[in-house]
This record gives sequence, C-alpha cells and structure tokens, in this order.
Amino acid sequence: METVTTVREMKARSRAWRRHGLSVGLVPTMGFLHRGHGSLVERSVRENGRTAVSVFVNPAQFGPGEDLESYPRDPARDSAYLKSLGVNVLFMPEPSEMYPPGFATAVEAPELGEALCGASRPGHFRGVCTVVLKLLNAASPDRAYFGLKDAQQFFILRRMARDLDLDASLVPCETVREADGLAMSSRNSYLTPEERAVAPLLRKALLAAEDYLIGGGRDPAEACGIVGGMLSGESRFVPDYVEAVATSDLKPVSEVSSEILLAAAVRLGRARLIDNVIFDPSGPSRKPRGGAGC
Ligand code: PAF
Repeated sequence: METVTTVREMKARSRAWRRHGLSVGLVPTMGFLHRGHGSLVERSVRENGRTAVSVFVNPAQFGPGEDLESYPRDPARDSAYLKSLGVNVLFMPEPSEMYPPGFATAVEAPELGEALCGASRPGHFRGVCTVVLKLLNAASPDRAYFGLKDAQQFFILRRMARDLDLDASLVPCETVREADGLAMSSRNSYLTPEERAVAPLLRKALLAAEDYLIGGGRDPAEACGIVGGMLSGESRFVPDYVEAVATSDLKPVSEVSSEILLAAAVRLGRARLIDNVIFDPSGPSRKPRGGAGC
C-alpha cells in the first residue's frame, strides 16, 4: 500500500490504473477506522481492480464548538488496518492541500442539507458535499462507498452526483453494528462505560417503530411517537430529532406510501448518536435482523 498526500499524486495513481484497464473504488473516511469502514473497504476491494481510501478529518463539515480538535485520530493504526485489507492507495491530505489559501467554492443541496441533522448542524452538509466532490475528483473512482448509518449524507451525495452528472456510482452499504445493535461510529469512543451500556436503546426504539411499519402501520407520527416514547425512558438521552421523511427529497411525509427514512439523533454525554431505518412499504419482505455487513 502506498500513502499519498497530494491531489496531484492521487490523480496520477488513478490515471495510471485506468490506463491499465483497472476499475477504481474509493472509500472516503475521516479515519479512526472501525469494522464499519472495514466492510466498505472489503466491498471495494472485491468489486474493483484498485481501491483508494481517503483519511481526512474535514474541517469544513464541523461547526463552531463541534469536536474538530478532539475528533479521534490514529493514522498509524488506520494505515496498518487498510494495508491488511488489501488497499492500494491511502490518500491522507493535509487541510492546506484540500483547502489552500484563497479557496472560495462550496457545493450544497440546501433543502436536503437543512433537514434532520442539518437543522442542528448548519453548514455540515455543505462541507460534506464540497469535500466529497473534491475527493471524487482526485480519485476519479468508478464506485464510491458510503455507510447507511449516515443515510442523510448518502441521499444528499446521491442527489449531488445526479445533479452534477458525476461519473462515479455511489454505493450505499448497510450499517455495521456491535453485537448489541449499536451502530459502529468513530465517535462511540466518546461514551463512558455507563453511557455505552444504554446507547443501544436508540436502535431498539427504531426497531420497535420498524415493527409497527412491517405490521402495516402507515402513520409516520405514530412511528416517530414509538421511538420518542422509548427514548424518553432513558434520562441520559437528550433527543435532537425523530423524523420520518421521504428518501427522495428528505421532506416529512404525512403517510407512509413510498420509501421513507425514519431517522433519530440523540445526545448522550459527549457523543451525538444517530441511527435510522429505511422502510419501503412496497419493498420485498424485510431481511432477518442481525449484524448485517456491507
Ligand atoms: O462519513 C464520513 O466519514 C464523512 O462525512 C466523509 C464522507 C468522509 C466526508 O468527510
């Protein structure tokens, strides 16, 4: 595995791969990798001739007072993990490489980016869209892989790719979970043992609402009420939102008649946990539950 730090080098590697007829997969990450990232990488390695992984803690997607400075980092461990997974290039640029002096452009999908997490993190998805577009430009992948724990992020990036005629296919991958259902996240490292013990309640609450939908319930307010009711049973949870929106435009729905994203965010100590279920009333019967891989 080679580590490159400049956009020029990343572009050169990708061009060389293409000249040899190899397809390219990209897994964008902010590092402090866990098995959730690992499953994206494994899939990219399976599906492409070459895989690049970016590790870049993107300042543009952190708001004032958020955890940019304290965001967990372990480049040496990340590098060893990626090497063991068969990654070809680790792209690890400095902020000054991605945002040189005079950088003045941003990309956003304002309506989608202001819903759900965007309401309490203004500007977050502008930062995500801008950096992902730059990473796609640098690596020119055939496919780029994203986890569905961040479902809003995926639906916004999918819209950006469509609206801007990007060549890459954006591939959604199932959330990878701990044995007790908690979605894997680099920020889970912020949880104290006591907080970690109650954290899976978020997943349990969403599954209870999913059961209501699988059972034929079609009232989004009722589904959100089930989640909110269960979350209120744990006083350490400070709910941010529980919402049911259409996956097509992230607007709230008044009835569950097409695919919805039922998403929730809570603060728990220093951590902000997010999770979701995606439910399509006309979709195939639901998969058995369990620690699904990518
Ligand atoms: O999901 C993430 O880790 C980040 O938002 C991403 C896509 C790598 C952009 O910085």
